[in-house]
Amino acid sequence: MVKLGVNIDHVATIRQARLVMEPDPVFAAAIAEQNGADQITIHLREDRRHIQNRDLKILRSTIQTKLNLEMAASEEMIAIAKNSLPDTVTLVPEKREELTTEGGLVLLEEHKEMIAELKAVNIEVSVFIEPDIEMVKFAKKIGADTVEIHTGRYANLTDSKEIEEELIRIKKAAKQVKSSGMRVVAGHGLNYHNTQALVELELFEEFNIGHSIISRAVFSGLAEAVKTMKEIVK
Ligand code: PXP
Repeated sequence: MVKLGVNIDHVATIRQARLVMEPDPVFAAAIAEQNGADQITIHLREDRRHIQNRDLKILRSTIQTKLNLEMAASEEMIAIAKNSLPDTVTLVPEKREELTTEGGLVLLEEHKEMIAELKAVNIEVSVFIEPDIEMVKFAKKIGADTVEIHTGRYANLTDSKEIEEELIRIKKAAKQVKSSGMRVVAGHGLNYHNTQALVELELFEEFNIGHSIISRAVFSGLAEAVKTMKEIVK
């Protein structure tokens, strides 16, 4: 069955807006798991803008499904991963000034050693790359277990012909991942409208989705939240 990884970064984004205790991503992870999430994904960014070291530490001991840690391919992050032992590490590019991860990671020879270090402590290593055949081949060469195809471009397109073309590019890359013996997953910018077409390719084992789920949760929970506060002020 196709798996759903729920990215809970934006629960932490709301908390960090006030630097208080709530909403706690640990609570969000439990609710996501109770409602069918097969994996919880967090991105521990260098600038700690949302997820904090404390979240990683607690989530590692409370998550009952799988913990996927997205992180930059840096020495600091490799040390944190080896210490916290998530089930999966997804190597992503990271720029301080970006609002969210822009583009896939450009894999380099130097990533080979980092991947080996993580695999040596039994962490599955996924690389977040553009749907590009040559990059997929390089991912295999440097030892990645899994490829997460960056669907951001697909998600941002509005022209139906361009969407069709991008879907073909994604399909070719995903097939290449599978035939190379790696797991193939997808993520970024996926929402309640554009995910189905990717599911229908019948290639992806898993989808990692964050922003659209947390956005929807704000509205599906707002009525109850206002009613409850109204009861208090009445
Ligand atoms: N996969 C990866 C590797 C990501 O970096 C992100 C964003 O943190 C996601 C999936 C989820 O993207 P979105 O929040 O747009 O659903």
